Parts: sequence; C-alpha cells; structure tokens
Amino acid sequence: MDPILQIEKLKKKFGGVVAVDGVDFEVNSHQIKAIIGPNGAGKTTIFNLISRICPPTSGTIRFKQHKINELKPYVIAEKGISRTFQNVQVFENMSVLENVMVGRHCRTRSEIFAAIMNLKRTRAEEKRIHDYSLEMLSFVGLETKKNEAASNLTFQQQKLLEFARALATEPDLLLLDEPAAGLSVPEADEMAQFVYRIREIGITILLVEHNMGLVMEVSDEVIVLDSGQVIAEGTPREVQNNEAVIAVYLGERETENANHTKS
Ligand SMILES: Nc1ncnc2c1ncn2[C@@H]1O[C@H](COP(=O)(O)OP(=O)(O)O)[C@@H](O)[C@H]1O
Ligand SMILES: [Mg+2]
Repeated sequence: MDPILQIEKLKKKFGGVVAVDGVDFEVNSHQIKAIIGPNGAGKTTIFNLISRICPPTSGTIRFKQHKINELKPYVIAEKGISRTFQNVQVFENMSVLENVMVGRHCRTRSEIFAAIMNLKRTRAEEKRIHDYSLEMLSFVGLETKKNEAASNLTFQQQKLLEFARALATEPDLLLLDEPAAGLSVPEADEMAQFVYRIREIGITILLVEHNMGLVMEVSDEVIVLDSGQVIAEGTPREVQNNEAVIAVYLGERETENANHTKS
C-alpha cells in the first residue's frame, strides 16, 4: 500500500494544554480513514496542523513523501490537500456558485497573486474557473441553486456546498471534519453516499466524525484518539470491540448523563 499522508510524532501544545500528544499514523491512497474520539480529543487540531492553520509544536507531516509542515496553507492546498470545517463556513451573501469559485481561485499561487493584486484574469481563465466550479456543484446536486444566495440553502445543502468548494481545488486528499454533524438520520445516510462518490473519483479521505453509524459504514480503517493520543487503530469492527475504546465512550456517555442531570 502506498501512503499518501504520513504523520510522525505529531505534537501540538496550546499553552499548558497538550492537544495532540505524539500522534503517528498513515493514510493510504484511495483509503477512507476515520479519526474518532471524545470531544476535546484533538481531532480538529490534527486537521488544523495538516492544513497548516496552525503550526505543529513538533513532529513531521509528509504528503506524497514530502515534508509539508513548514509550508504555507495555500501551498498545501496547491499540493493537493483540501478540507471542510466542523462549523460550516459559507459566505452567506455570495451566490452558491461564487462560493465554489472562491475555492477554485485559490488553486494556484498565480491565482492568489492575481486575487491580491486585483489583476484581471483572461476571459478564458474565468471561464475555466466558472465551468469547473459548476461541474463540482452538479457533482453535489446543487447546480439548480447556483444563483441563489448561500444563506437560502438548508444546512445540509450548505455542507454539500462546502464539499463542492473543497473539491474545486482538485485535491488528492480531502479532510472532512464532522460531515454528518447536525444532520438528520436520512441526511447523514446521504452524506455517507457522497463520501463514497468522492472516493470513487480517486480522492483519498480522512474523516473526523461522531456519527458512529457513518464511521462504521464508510471507513476502511479507524483511528481512536483520546487526550491527544492514539489509543486504538484498526478496522471498524476491531475498534468497536476494543476494550480501551469502549471504556472511553462509556466514560463520555456518563459525563453527558451527569451533565443532563445537572441541567
Ligand atoms: N486554538 C486553540 N487554542 C487553545 N486551545 C485549543 C485551540 N484549539 C484547540 N484547543 C484545545 O485543544 C484540545 C483539543 O481540541 P480539538 O482538536 O478541537 O478537539 P476535538 O476536535 O477532538 O473535539 C481541547 O482541549 C481544546 O480546548
Ligand atoms: Mg472537532
């Protein structure tokens, strides 16, 4: 198997908090891998480190065998890593299509430079960006909404819009942070189908998700994180039967129950 992403001894401290504490794992090309774990385990922080929203304290991140942890976020996007966010981030006043085109505009450094300098793109370039963005909208089934304000979309549609924007950068690796959070059961099932379709077009997926049904259905492999450390790794079935994992999840449920009784 050919690893597309290799994480070694990754560590992130925020003041006294060790959010990610010596994490090692690999993601193979064309795999769907999930990271699960209780709230505060460090899942989103790992995504923020890979996409270089924040720098690691120590450790190495290799993408396609090259070290990327000192690169700027747009260079990482250019190299082929894209992501969605735990809290949906769409530009509400922009049209649905414009929201996707924003992703496409950041495809290359020259495009970013052009955006900063407010340079006029050639018509041919604009048309390419437009057409590719439209293709991605139709991939997620939102082409009929292209001219609507993003704020008119349902929550699920906004999540799909984020998928389209992330895909518009033509990633090889897509990081999905809780794609099913806030969705109803049938909507989450639809999301699972989209995750499969994204893999079918050749994209590797690293997924953070709380919806265990979705994780167990779509993942080839699962990593379990607790307090910034990997406590288990394996197939969904192996992880589900792992005692350390069961203990962590039972602990979380007890904390939730305690909080419910308090409020
Ligand atoms: N920017 C930040 N500044 C300070 N602490 C942070 C920051 N981001 C995350 N943390 C802390 O790091 C830990 C892991 O958070 P996070 O990665 O968001 O967890 P998860 O996504 O698994 O719920 C938490 O204790 C959180 O409060
Ligand atoms: Mg998170």
